[in-house]
Amino acid sequence: MIRSVFKGVGSALPKRAVSNEELAQRVDTSDEWIRERTGIGNRYIAGEGETTGTLATEAARAALENAGITADEVDLIVLATATPDSTFPATATKVQSALGCKGAAFDVAAVCSGFLYALGTADSMIRGGMFKCALVIGAETFSRILDWEDRTTCVLFGDGAGAFVIRGEDVPEDGPGILATRLHADGNHGDLLFVDGGPSTTGTVGKVRMKGREVFRHAVVNLASVLEEVLEETGVSASDIDWVVPHQANLRILDATARKLGLPIEKVVVTVDRHANTSAASVPLAFDTAVRDGRIKPGDLVMLEAMGGGFTWGASLMRI
Ligand code: ACO
Repeated sequence: MIRSVFKGVGSALPKRAVSNEELAQRVDTSDEWIRERTGIGNRYIAGEGETTGTLATEAARAALENAGITADEVDLIVLATATPDSTFPATATKVQSALGCKGAAFDVAAVCSGFLYALGTADSMIRGGMFKCALVIGAETFSRILDWEDRTTCVLFGDGAGAFVIRGEDVPEDGPGILATRLHADGNHGDLLFVDGGPSTTGTVGKVRMKGREVFRHAVVNLASVLEEVLEETGVSASDIDWVVPHQANLRILDATARKLGLPIEKVVVTVDRHANTSAASVPLAFDTAVRDGRIKPGDLVMLEAMGGGFTWGASLMRI
């Protein structure tokens, strides 16, 4: 059977790290408050010359190197972002041009679930036979849409990018590849997490607005339910999962979701302490960390999951 097989991962962070202490010098907050409520200790903030496109390109290069695949083999780039370099052309086409790839390239917008949406899209297109080898990228410069006067949001986010290379391969039933992906959206909750601007409404870029408490409640319920769905579809039990790589929004959401599934937190890859919430970039950034430090290995069963503005949410189970 043809499956999309994971071949490599890479990531990129801006040069500048900003600790909670540094942030507390210009925002009315404290390291203690941020750590206690979110688990975040640090984030990276893009500086001059660093954009979603440059971070995405760096992550994509690292992923190709990790995969041992050259850019000329890539025939599809799907890039998830809520902070594109410009309204158009798609940031994916900038990556395509920088790497010298051919084929199709486009962006998807599903905010923090964007990487899951991009992965599901690329996987379907590969299994459908339209493309063979894809770069799937999550990249964001959320710092540029934060209201730095609003302490309830600006302390939570950071910038970064992560990328997967996946390739269609004929594998046995128990072989590697993406086993199932489930995606959902519920637009009725758009007012709980949104950007208050856009090209077709205000003609401005806008800033992030969020009702944090309500987002938290929906996140735990939606994530638990989509994880159950993927387990049911694949016939895999939670105890068979080697690693969960969740969207890194908040340590308490990660804890609560792991508990609902009956999984020990030791099986959950956590990078929110170092990177904060990097939206669409957070899943591949965390995944890259766990591959490079030797936790995720060939043969492992890995669950990816995310929830974000919209609301949108999803999960994907893959064997490495
Ligand atoms: N520093 C210090 N105090 C603060 C800060 C801050 N940065 N932000 C808010 N406070 C204060 C508030 O003003 C409030 O003070 P008050 O009691 O005097 O009115 C108090 O802290 C409590 O505020 P709440 O908003 O009720 O705090 P809560 O315990 O809900 O924590 C948080 C807020 C961390 C945002 C939490 O609701 C949360 O994690 N929600 C999930 C949101 C999220 O992760 N979104 C990311 C995008 S969606 C996603 O990725 C899943």
